[in-house]
Amino acid sequence: MNGNKMFSSYKLGNIELKNRFVMAPMTRSRAIGSIPNELMAEYYSQRADAGLIITEGTSPSNNGLGYSRIPGLYNEAHVTGWKVVTDAVHAKGSKIFVQLMHTGRIGHQLNLPNDAEVLAPSSVKAAGQIWTDQSGLQDYPTPKEMNYYDIIQAKKEYAESSKYAIKAGLDGVEIHSANGYLLEQFLSPFSNLRTDEYGGSIENRCRFLLETVDAIIAAIGKEKTGVRLSPYGVASDMKPYPEIDEEYAYLAEELNKRGIVYLHIADHSAMGAPEVPQSIKDTIRAKFKNTLILAGGYTKELAEADVNNGKADLIAFGRPFINNPDLVARFENGNPIATEFDNDNFYTAGSKGYTDYPAFAV
Ligand SMILES: Cc1cc2nc3c(=O)[nH]c(=O)nc-3n(C[C@H](O)[C@H](O)[C@H](O)COP(=O)(O)O)c2cc1C
Repeated sequence: MNGNKMFSSYKLGNIELKNRFVMAPMTRSRAIGSIPNELMAEYYSQRADAGLIITEGTSPSNNGLGYSRIPGLYNEAHVTGWKVVTDAVHAKGSKIFVQLMHTGRIGHQLNLPNDAEVLAPSSVKAAGQIWTDQSGLQDYPTPKEMNYYDIIQAKKEYAESSKYAIKAGLDGVEIHSANGYLLEQFLSPFSNLRTDEYGGSIENRCRFLLETVDAIIAAIGKEKTGVRLSPYGVASDMKPYPEIDEEYAYLAEELNKRGIVYLHIADHSAMGAPEVPQSIKDTIRAKFKNTLILAGGYTKELAEADVNNGKADLIAFGRPFINNPDLVARFENGNPIATEFDNDNFYTAGSKGYTDYPAFAV
């Protein structure tokens, strides 16, 4: 078995990745007024030795902008901003997918534009608090239950946003159905109490995600459409439920039928979340035939092992890319990996703790 498979190129749909290292999506909150900027282009360009970059969660609409300073992708100003980012990344030979993240109930009115609302499948408030630039930490609000119009509108927004993504030079779209945001709120029987065709059974709870996937495929094509899931995740007040294995097996099958280009599974046990059973990852691997990306707690050695033994095709790294802009070069050259983080500046505005991590100096 070739121990260096991680450094070999990989065909993802119609695009060629220069290696199998993926930069995981990470919210960094530098998009003032939701518009991507030169600072973000510099940040992503510094990290473009990854074969594929998946951007931070990016809202497809006003309603999805629940966090302070996250970017959007639903108007021409967003397209112009993202174009600066995609040009910078492409100039370094990397590829870039945008992660479309509608925050749903994980938002706050103070973070949203005036005409927007905090929406969710049901009026179930998340436990905990959220940061607002105006008033500091605030309890999560009770969201408005989405009506049929809201559901149709949200699907339309995802599809339109995907078209804007292609216009902005992005190589594709990752649909964020993980970590407790809108789409996962529909998947979970704790946040989805609906009694219509979008709630109740597994098929009904999965309907909004699958219809959204269909709408995005119709807009930009299955070769440009990926999905992120986090079975057994506990982020944003999610928790496991009895039929969780059955639900994710169903999703893997349905997503496989649609031929999306990749499925991306996040396992946050290395961040203190409970263990994700290997069996659910094996089930997903067996049912979903296209590219599988695994993320969470990887080192170079673990990544090589999981790709060599066929558990995954690509491996995503999150935190190591924050403080090692040249992560892949460090791995390749056997240089030490920085482990010190400036945690205080994960989500602050400006370059501190963002673009000021140095590349390895000999
Ligand atoms: C600062 C920070 C922001 C994150 N933001 C997102 C996000 O916007 N979307 C997402 O799907 N995951 C997000 N994650 C999770 C990462 O994509 C990744 O799954 C996680 O960090 C585990 O990988 P790691 O152990 O390599 O860091 C974030 C993680 C961190 C540390």
